[in-house]
Amino acid sequence: MNGWRSDMNLTIFPPPIYTLIRYADECNVSKAVLDCGGGGRKPPLALFSRHGYKTYGIDISRASLVAAIDFALRDKLELNMAKADMCWIPFRDEVFGCVYSWNASIHLTKRDTERAIGEMFRVLRKGGLLYIDFIWEKGRWEDLGEEREPGEFWMIIDGEDVVHSCFSEAEVNRFFEKADVLYKQKRQTTLRRRGKLRNEAYLDYIVRK
Ligand SMILES: C[S@@+](CC[C@H](N)C(=O)[O-])C[C@H]1O[C@@H](n2cnc3c(N)ncnc32)[C@H](O)[C@@H]1O
Repeated sequence: MNGWRSDMNLTIFPPPIYTLIRYADECNVSKAVLDCGGGGRKPPLALFSRHGYKTYGIDISRASLVAAIDFALRDKLELNMAKADMCWIPFRDEVFGCVYSWNASIHLTKRDTERAIGEMFRVLRKGGLLYIDFIWEKGRWEDLGEEREPGEFWMIIDGEDVVHSCFSEAEVNRFFEKADVLYKQKRQTTLRRRGKLRNEAYLDYIVRK
């Protein structure tokens, strides 16, 4: 287990996930949720499951899926995770009350981000909630790699060429011009990572269809 112990009751999830569940409960959305890019060792879907949601998750990486499925098995949770690309979501139109991508669509090019948002809206029911976060240009992002297109930075991670896209607030607002933005957070944080102080900045949105 590499020293990693899963215990759902002790697991602390990223704060935006709690905010999203609070909004979803307040808006009384149907209790079916989809996480786009939801793999990894601490799958946020576990928290939705504990709050009574029927959960579904997709991730493009087999390793991320295996990590999430391991967590689910240890905690006896049925998360329903499958390998898929969030640019081509393998579900029918309007089936979920809540769709989100936490810290995952940041790995799409700008064009694919727009496509993935279109897909997330497609599978969301009318009145349902979409949560998504973006890397915001206000951070100091000089270590994101080579800028091959404006705002698209590429670097090799674990042998793979990985993109991080970085947006202005105006660019993100354009994605949601026709939607009902319920919540927008500008997160700016100074933190020490690998011995260096970094200024990070993200934009978080909760939008109603
Ligand atoms: C930084 S991890 C975050 C994982 C998870 N959301 C969490 O909170 O721990 C980013 C995840 O997005 C996934 N991902 C990247 N591009 C994707 C795509 N096009 N479709 C689905 N998943 C994708 C990666 O495989 C990875 O598991």
